[in-house]
Amino acid sequence: MKVSLIVATGKNGEIGKNNDLIWHLPADMKFFKDTTEDHIVIMGRRNWDSIPRKYRPLADRENVVLTRSQDYSAEGATVFNDLEAALSFYDQSSEKRTCFIIGGAQVYQLALDAGCVEEMYITHIDQEFDADTYFPKVDFSKWKSEVVLEHSHDEKNPYAFTVKRYWK
Ligand SMILES: NC(=O)c1ccc[n+]([C@@H]2O[C@H](COP(=O)([O-])OP(=O)(O)OC[C@H]3O[C@@H](n4cnc5c(N)ncnc54)[C@H](OP(=O)(O)O)[C@@H]3O)[C@@H](O)[C@H]2O)c1
Repeated sequence: MKVSLIVATGKNGEIGKNNDLIWHLPADMKFFKDTTEDHIVIMGRRNWDSIPRKYRPLADRENVVLTRSQDYSAEGATVFNDLEAALSFYDQSSEKRTCFIIGGAQVYQLALDAGCVEEMYITHIDQEFDADTYFPKVDFSKWKSEVVLEHSHDEKNPYAFTVKRYWK
């Protein structure tokens, strides 16, 4: 089973504010949906809370929520208290799906520190934002990369962005 990470960041690594996203970019949302569909998405409890009820669990994906609470329940999702327990639960030889780490910042940090991330999809948005949550510092010199999508700003997407895939 592969472990990937997917994130959208502003120019300074901004990812969120007040437990919400800072931008509305439907073209990037579509990339996220197309990339993660039919796979497993692993998120922090705060990220789960931030998803509007009508959109959660995220459709057509196995939703996994990480929390330290022993009695937390998230309707439509599987709850784990530990990232490694979640990964080993899905790491069976028959498992063809990828585990996507979908944030937020605490869970990105946890996965990067654990060294389990083999691939990252990063949407680089060409704009600075007022934020309170940032993607962890990554030494990009240790990762190879390729551009997988470039999108200009248009009437529906207020900022240009580039999606890059990174691997080691
Ligand atoms: N731009 C993007 O691509 C993107 C993607 C995702 C999220 N976001 C943004 O990121 C922000 C949320 O990020 P965040 O860092 O505040 O929160 P988070 O990572 O989504 O969730 C943090 C929670 O995860 C649980 N957790 C953390 N470490 C754990 C561990 N070692 N073991 C078990 N559970 C653990 C804890 O839940 P309990 O408190 O319940 O114990 C903790 O409060 C929001 O603004 C959201 O919109 C942006």
